[in-house]
Amino acid sequence: MTTNLSASASGQFRLLGERPIRRLGFGAMRVTGPGIWGPPADLEGARATLRRVPELGIDFIDTADSYGPFVSEDLIREVLHPYRGLLIATKGGLTRHGPDIWLPLGRPEYLRQCVLMSMRRLGVDRIDLWQLHRIDPKVPRAEQFDAIAQMLSDGLIAQVGLSEVNVEEIQAAQKHFPVATVQNQYNLVDRKSEAVLAFCEANGIGFIPWYPLAAGALAGPGSPLAKIAERLKATPAQIALAWTLKRSSVMLPIPGTSKVAHLEQNVAAAELTLSDEEFAALDRQGRAAAA
Ligand SMILES: NC(=O)c1ccc[n+]([C@@H]2O[C@H](COP(=O)([O-])OP(=O)(O)OC[C@H]3O[C@@H](n4cnc5c(N)ncnc54)[C@H](OP(=O)(O)O)[C@@H]3O)[C@@H](O)[C@H]2O)c1
Repeated sequence: MTTNLSASASGQFRLLGERPIRRLGFGAMRVTGPGIWGPPADLEGARATLRRVPELGIDFIDTADSYGPFVSEDLIREVLHPYRGLLIATKGGLTRHGPDIWLPLGRPEYLRQCVLMSMRRLGVDRIDLWQLHRIDPKVPRAEQFDAIAQMLSDGLIAQVGLSEVNVEEIQAAQKHFPVATVQNQYNLVDRKSEAVLAFCEANGIGFIPWYPLAAGALAGPGSPLAKIAERLKATPAQIALAWTLKRSSVMLPIPGTSKVAHLEQNVAAAELTLSDEEFAALDRQGRAAAA
């Protein structure tokens, strides 16, 4: 185990120009059971992973009420409360009917319940960053955004984020409240959100890529990724993460794991330095694979 690892190597980002966090965060979806349902198979391992998060200098954790459901938020509170400078970002607006089943529900009274119950589970009197997990297509979005704006003005949440949205939806939300972050699927080989990333860069919005570790088939023998991994003595997943961090200064990756060893590998990726040529070669390879 490396002892002097630190997420500080990833640099800092200020949410809405205010609260500083280290750019490399932790995704707490994986401290749950299969299908993100129920408790994790190795509960002690999951607890140890969460304990290790702040020791490694990570100060930004992403979770959701629907992870478990509730298991992730409950474990975070059990292991990390009273948080001591950690920013705990959670999400609401998705219901769960079983493993791998996620159904949006954006009724204003339900969104408010999500926030109130997350506050209770996390043991806080205000959520630092609350993200609308999905815009519910069955409910007028202005009603969902108004409910969120009301919770901001009531002081239940400090900042708001969105998840799986396009540029037009971000702009629509911005008419109701400042958008601090956007959380969309994004990695070396999934580039559907390039336009959203560009919008976030132009507007100082934190972009939280989920599933950041995917490198997929790019790691084949002799590939640019394989050669760079060999030079840096790193895994393909670490290279994918280092690429993501270099991609943009608003990028806030949250790799998720239930294992201490994997967490340490992911933090070590923040210390890898890709040259501009390596970055460009990976970019070309990733775009080609994505296409
Ligand atoms: N907004 C949304 O709709 C949405 C959707 C999905 C996820 N998220 C968020 O994004 C976070 C990350 O997404 P994700 O978990 O799907 O993707 P990820 O972090 O890219 O990958 C996680 C997977 O990779 C494994 N892993 C992690 N570190 C590893 C390492 N160093 N070596 C080998 N395997 C490793 C994990 O298993 P082990 O436990 O075995 O390490 C897990 O199966 C989640 O925790 C959650 O907070 C958000």
